[in-house]
Amino acid sequence: MTQSPLLVRVLAEADAPAFRDLRLAGIAEHPEYFGAPYAEEEAAGLPLFEKRIRGGLPGDAMFGVFRGARMVGIAGMFRAASGTMRHRGTLWGVYVDPAERGEETAERLIRAVIAHARRHVDVLTGLVTVTNPRARAFYVRLGFGFSGIERKILKVGGRHFDQEILVMDFTGEAP
Ligand SMILES: CC(C)(COP(=O)(O)OP(=O)(O)OC[C@H]1O[C@@H](n2cnc3c(N)ncnc32)[C@H](O)[C@@H]1OP(=O)(O)O)[C@@H](O)C(=O)NCCC(=O)NCCS
Repeated sequence: MTQSPLLVRVLAEADAPAFRDLRLAGIAEHPEYFGAPYAEEEAAGLPLFEKRIRGGLPGDAMFGVFRGARMVGIAGMFRAASGTMRHRGTLWGVYVDPAERGEETAERLIRAVIAHARRHVDVLTGLVTVTNPRARAFYVRLGFGFSGIERKILKVGGRHFDQEILVMDFTGEAP
């Protein structure tokens, strides 16, 4: 069967319901991979997702990957508000529908975020829970490198989780 084509684009506020559905699906699947609990995200409702889509600073953006008309993956970049940290982008909220994994879908999505980040910031940072080797391997394949470990950054179901800090440096400077 021929698949519908993939399209990656920046989300608009009208995409908030599908964005929310995917975000909640991701947290339900693996709460220890995400920085917010399901109940909080669900209770916040659509306004939170519309706000995330609008962003705060120039360069803040939410991307979606679509299979035909259906949103099948999400990923965002936001910048720190502080003047001395505004050169940093944070990759967040990465989730791709299980049926689309192992395909080009996630790579197309994150390459779009990387291309966007390159235009706005000097470094792009991501956090990966250490029990998520698949995401780690994926990011490393795309060019992210090890930067450190945040100990006990998440607590889910009474258990602490460390996250690895991964970074992509666009400056060309030696680390
Ligand atoms: C993370 C995610 C977007 C990656 O997309 P994907 O389509 O699964 O990625 P790919 O299949 O292209 O790449 C996965 C890599 O992990 C490898 N891999 C798969 N299972 C693995 C495992 N258990 N241990 C180690 N590596 C693994 C694959 O071989 C592949 O590496 P390679 O290309 O070097 O061979 C997707 O898996 C996802 O949405 N996961 C759930 C949410 C999530 O983890 N979000 C990230 C939060 S930081």
